[in-house]
Amino acid sequence: HKNLLSLAPLSVEDIQLILETADSFKEVSGREIKKVPALRGRTVVNLFFEPSTRTRTSFELAAKRLSADVINFSPSSSSVVKGETLLDTARNIEAMQADIIVLRHSSAGAAETLARGVKSSVINAGDGWHEHPTQALLDLYTIRERGMAFKGLRVAIVGDVAHSRVARSNILALTKLGAEVRVVGPPTMIPLGIEKMGVRVFHHLDDGLRDVQVIMMLRLQLERQGRALFPTIREYARLYGLTSERVKMADPKAIVMHPGPINRGVEIAPEVADSLSSVILDQVANGVAVRMGVLYLMSGAN
Ligand code: CP
Repeated sequence: HKNLLSLAPLSVEDIQLILETADSFKEVSGREIKKVPALRGRTVVNLFFEPSTRTRTSFELAAKRLSADVINFSPSSSSVVKGETLLDTARNIEAMQADIIVLRHSSAGAAETLARGVKSSVINAGDGWHEHPTQALLDLYTIRERGMAFKGLRVAIVGDVAHSRVARSNILALTKLGAEVRVVGPPTMIPLGIEKMGVRVFHHLDDGLRDVQVIMMLRLQLERQGRALFPTIREYARLYGLTSERVKMADPKAIVMHPGPINRGVEIAPEVADSLSSVILDQVANGVAVRMGVLYLMSGAN
């Protein structure tokens, strides 16, 4: 694949290859081995039009540990503020021989639009509410690392599913791999017709959590809500906030995931985020190995 825009076109074998390639980079990502020369002479450009802590840093570390040159392009200090478009910006970056452009943007479809307009490879690092493919891949990696098989795995994705690119990418990947996926949230935050994606819908958190092996919490995306948030933050925290009491509804060995950033005390209680069942920081650590795998496979260096 030249680009990674969505998980929809990936086969089960493609996903497995990415996870296995990430395995081979795990020691480099964890600094047990310093660097590998796989992408020497290649250039990766991080083009982030929305804020990011984990994804941008993770792509930068991944590219550097593969010995690529990395440019972190910051729109707020660029000619974007003078009105230069996304496509013109990317074409100018491409003219300076960028091999891979990693794009985060607030508009759904921005990565696809960019990929049509440039010859460089494009990786979608989150486009509006649409998809965040590398997040779902690192989530899969983290589940697999815990020794869980995907076939028949009971997963609850909880919260603001309507605005969540993380949920969409995970639903696509997990259902492809044979997991039983539930989405849990208030009717205002669950898109109508989402059952067509092969998931079951629950509006009561306790019902949705019953016996699941993976609890995947989502951030309440305040920046993507309309003016009138319904339910209100306080109601939402009471009805859908994950507390240690509620975790007891799930399988006793269930893991708690969250893509970050977390709203402590809103969708997740601090004691749950910091508990032994939480793998939130493992997800972040695995992001580097998984992104190394993606960059390596897309560069053609294999
Ligand atoms: N999970 C995630 O995408 O986090 P950032 O927005 O900090 O990159």
